Amino acid sequence: MITVNHITKTYQLKNRELLILKDINLEIPNQSFAGIIGDSGSGKSTLLSIMAGLEKPTDGEVLVNGKNLFQMKDREISRFRNQSIGFVFQSFHLLDNLTALENVMLPMQYGNVPPKQRVESAREALGQVGLSDRMNHRPQELSGGQKQRVSIARAIVNDSRLIIADEPTGNLDSKSGETVMNLFQNLHRQGYTIIMVTHNMEHQRLFTQAIRMRDGEIVG
Ligand SMILES: Nc1ncnc2c1ncn2[C@@H]1O[C@H](COP(=O)(O)OP(=O)(O)OP(=O)(O)O)[C@@H](O)[C@H]1O
Ligand SMILES: [Mg+2]
Repeated sequence: MITVNHITKTYQLKNRELLILKDINLEIPNQSFAGIIGDSGSGKSTLLSIMAGLEKPTDGEVLVNGKNLFQMKDREISRFRNQSIGFVFQSFHLLDNLTALENVMLPMQYGNVPPKQRVESAREALGQVGLSDRMNHRPQELSGGQKQRVSIARAIVNDSRLIIADEPTGNLDSKSGETVMNLFQNLHRQGYTIIMVTHNMEHQRLFTQAIRMRDGEIVG
């Protein structure tokens, strides 16, 4: 369960305060496939980053399976995120000079996983996203849809059961986008919790919970 309690976020500009999130409250049960929708600038990415512990709120708390993110020290948050949350970005965030396999192995470098096991797990994750035949390709040798599948493999390789994705299909053609959505749907069926931002109204029928934002507030 992800619980968001009274989250506010303000940015301090030179002579005024910008209120970006206004008292956000949310409960997302485990095994949900939750979608966040809303106009550009409504605060979707900011909320996702805070739920993932990537950014700190001005006020309020986020609990991920009972763990209060912002009561942890920064190092603890990083560690917790590394073990428990997979983040998928619109622009993939893969390292260009590493192969698909090496990119997927990255999250394991902080754990105590022995090297042989790391390769095994990364291979398995790439298999799950249908890329067993592209493991030694570097990002520039992959299509957009394939890059996004590598980043999904990286998100699940540590056995994180929570995936947070910010417009994961935003940079993809419709067919690749559909492949990515099918993958998420499969992971959801396997019991993963998925929270994603989308601008695509067709995705709504897949969601178990749709969260609509407007001007920093949840409106439904
Ligand atoms: N570092 C910052 N300083 C000041 N304002 C910011 C900062 N980051 C974001 N904002 C503002 O916060 C608001 C919400 O941004 P956010 O990226 O969360 O929107 P979004 O809903 O994800 O939009 P989009 O659909 O375009 O991705 C925007 O008005 C943006 O200008
Ligand atoms: Mg955004």
